[in-house]
Amino acid sequence: MLATVSFALLLASLRVLASPIVVRDSPITLPVARRVNATGAANLVKMEQARARALSNRSTAAKFHTNELPSYSIPATNQFVEYVVTVGVGSPPTDYLLVVDTGSSNTWIGNGKKYIKTATAIDTKQSLDVEYGSGIMLGEEWLDEVHLTPGITLTNQSIGAALIAIGFDGVNGVLGIGPQALTYNTLFPNSTSTITTVTGNAFLQGFIDQNMVGISFEPTNTNESVTNGQLTFGGVDATKYTGELTYVPVTTTQPAGAYFGINQTISYGSESVPILPSLAGIVDTGTTLFLLPTDVIAKYQQVTGAQMDQNVGLLSLTPDQFANLESLFVNIGGQTFEFTPTAQAFPRSLNAAFGGSDDLVYLVVADIGYESGSGLDFINGMTFLERFYTVYDAGTHRFGIATTASTYATN
Ligand SMILES: *[C@@H]1O[C@H](CO)[C@@H](O)[C@H](O)[C@H]1NC(C)=O
Ligand SMILES: *[C@@H]1O[C@H](CO)[C@@H](O)[C@H](O)[C@H]1NC(C)=O
Ligand SMILES: *[C@@H]1O[C@H](CO)[C@@H](O)[C@H](O)[C@H]1NC(C)=O
Ligand SMILES: *[C@@H]1O[C@H](CO)[C@@H](O)[C@H](O)[C@H]1NC(C)=O
Ligand SMILES: *[C@@H]1O[C@H](CO)[C@@H](O)[C@H](O)[C@H]1NC(C)=O
Ligand SMILES: *[C@@H]1O[C@H](CO)[C@@H](O)[C@H](O)[C@H]1NC(C)=O
Repeated sequence: MLATVSFALLLASLRVLASPIVVRDSPITLPVARRVNATGAANLVKMEQARARALSNRSTAAKFHTNELPSYSIPATNQFVEYVVTVGVGSPPTDYLLVVDTGSSNTWIGNGKKYIKTATAIDTKQSLDVEYGSGIMLGEEWLDEVHLTPGITLTNQSIGAALIAIGFDGVNGVLGIGPQALTYNTLFPNSTSTITTVTGNAFLQGFIDQNMVGISFEPTNTNESVTNGQLTFGGVDATKYTGELTYVPVTTTQPAGAYFGINQTISYGSESVPILPSLAGIVDTGTTLFLLPTDVIAKYQQVTGAQMDQNVGLLSLTPDQFANLESLFVNIGGQTFEFTPTAQAFPRSLNAAFGGSDDLVYLVVADIGYESGSGLDFINGMTFLERFYTVYDAGTHRFGIATTASTYATN
């Protein structure tokens, strides 16, 4: 049995329009580590499909307080590749290693490293339940200081302290930087209260002048962890991208519109073979692969000749087929973003990690696990985001994207 999940209904009306702001030029920049856990690769596709289903199937169903705990048939492994930051909580602060997630909005700690309560900790007496499809966190809500970088200390930040966390081996929790409305129905008993996110508090407390985050991720050839990403709260880092940023409003199509959802079309190769019609999906740092609906994957297989490697769950090409692979052209907001053959493939050095054959090239373009038409038809995950600079603007409900030095890199 697959995970049973229940999710809060988005109340679009909960979204708060950005108020006029005092212009300051003080973005907060955090280094982000790209963490690889080779043994976590085996269930990659199953876990990603479970997350996609959970994200696309938000429901009004009662949560764990009235229901049984969801059961997970998928082993509680964490993701194969994930981006993590170190954040301090309390005074003096204790450091926690957190997954950067634009697909959820609760920030919590306490997995594998206990929440150390200092004099700044305030118990809200609320419990917390966040469900991810590939994991779950149950715990208590506290308000505390959060230290993002030296000199930037948020006060009164809501923090979850995990009592049970499944699916987050190797990290202490999640830094949820999605839209605030995603926190609706995660607290109990005040289930209709939403929680101001870390980004939201940095904005409200005057540390940044825009309620947004700019993210730089970079691909690597290695199967080792490396610190090559950057999170910028309150602005963008113009040294990390080339050309102009293209901004699009968050899509009105639900459920994608509850997240950093956008509409995009995709065509393949120099002949512009249509692959994905204009559909809504999301941009998500909590997903590794570039997930497309089953019917769209069939078209992609047709034009590329890619075969499903049943052992691995990923599409693969022979080296000869790979030599003929052409780019995907992803159109967002009227601009075309090229996703090159190199970008579509995992580095060969990772093949052993997911139990693949050394003779094949494995692709990051994978099946989301359901047909198109759900209102959340694709997920541009980290393997996509490593090729572009991206901006998550919760304040004005828009998403931005620009090319980078990695867009056309062929390593
Ligand atoms: C969402 O849940 C419903 C009912 O549980 C199910 O029929 C549907 O297939 C699910 N959708 C997806 C995309 O998994
Ligand atoms: C702290 O946050 C809570 C909600 O999380 C709010 O009710 C309270 O007013 C805040 N206190 C201060 C001092 O900002
Ligand atoms: C890597 O993943 C395995 C299971 O897939 C897990 O048991 C282990 O704790 C993870 N290691 C780290 C450092 O995250
Ligand atoms: C939560 O609910 C309690 C009463 O049930 C109330 O006193 C408190 O103000 C609420 N907190 C928030 C943040 O809404
Ligand atoms: C990376 O791959 C090399 C060989 O390709 C292997 O020796 C090494 O153990 C791998 N490291 C990790 C962290 O998987
Ligand atoms: C976005 O995609 C949805 C289908 O998922 C479609 O109904 C809608 O018309 C599209 N919007 C635009 C502006 O293309």
